[in-house]
Amino acid sequence: MTDNLEMLLSEALTGLENIQDSGSLQKWESQFLGKNGRLTQMLKGIGKLPPEQRADFGKRANEIKQTLTEAYEQHTEIVRQHELGKALEEGELDVTLPGRPVQRGGLHPSTRILRQIQAIWAEMGFQVYTSRDVEDDDTNFTLLNIPPHHPARDMWDTFYTTQEGVILRTHTSPGQIHAMRDYGGNGTQPIRVILPGMCYRYEQMTARSEIQFNQVEGLAVGRHITMTDLKGTIADFARRLYGEDTKVRYRASHFPFTEPSMEVDVSCTLCGGKGCNVCKYTGWIEIMGCGMVHPVVLQNGGYDPTEWSGFAFGMGPERIAMRKHDIKDIRYFWSGDLRFLEQF
Ligand code: PHE
Repeated sequence: MTDNLEMLLSEALTGLENIQDSGSLQKWESQFLGKNGRLTQMLKGIGKLPPEQRADFGKRANEIKQTLTEAYEQHTEIVRQHELGKALEEGELDVTLPGRPVQRGGLHPSTRILRQIQAIWAEMGFQVYTSRDVEDDDTNFTLLNIPPHHPARDMWDTFYTTQEGVILRTHTSPGQIHAMRDYGGNGTQPIRVILPGMCYRYEQMTARSEIQFNQVEGLAVGRHITMTDLKGTIADFARRLYGEDTKVRYRASHFPFTEPSMEVDVSCTLCGGKGCNVCKYTGWIEIMGCGMVHPVVLQNGGYDPTEWSGFAFGMGPERIAMRKHDIKDIRYFWSGDLRFLEQF
């Protein structure tokens, strides 16, 4: 019987040596050491032996169990290392391969021109004031000296909402009222701000007009601000945007919230004033509306118009970008067409 034990031992050890994977290892374990394994079976048969052999047999069987268990544990570690090495080899990563190219986005042309305009005004000491897109009728019109039913309201086709008096701003000018009331300290503090933002108009969409577009409003309020300050400041801005040699001219115009009101032209950026199809052969292009803040508006902002004065202006960044890049149709801006956007 002990011979059987020795045979089992050598058979088990040889078998174990050849095992390379954890599956076979598990089989080996249940075959030799498991509950129904051969060694256990042999130990169960101990009762059939003559009593004087039992002690030796049991002792030897236990030694073998110990030996096999240790061999099994050692070999388990070898197989584990082997399998790990194989897995690493198969999943090998070549870190010297070039990476997949990442698609890079770009800034929208409106964002670019807005940033450029803001940077220029920042250099000139104007802070950005962010005003709301959703306005009330009062601030968008009445407080800007455009009373209800005044024909001047026709200048701005308005998006009304189902809520009485709530509209989308048709221009950034209502921000003048908010800025004066927020920053003016009840008419005691001077102000120098620009107000960039989206405006909305209920209009037929054409190559020249969109239902949404940006404006950059400007507002300066102080004790001794004159029309000279307005003209000098805007000429300075135009030269910073378009170049030192840019000529600037002012034409009389009308806005209810400024008095007097003007339109600003610069010498054509494309032909330098000689005449081309961008300036429609006039040599000039219009860049903004402006004027001295109307006394009624100053008053609505909390200032005493006999002591305080100010100027305001409003420009359209998309129009400026269109002329700069010779973009023929304003509808490209919000169409989301990558063929257009990727050019910037
Ligand atoms: N709000 C005017 C417009 O939408 C522009 C403007 C702003 C004119 C400030 C004068 C002063 O056309």
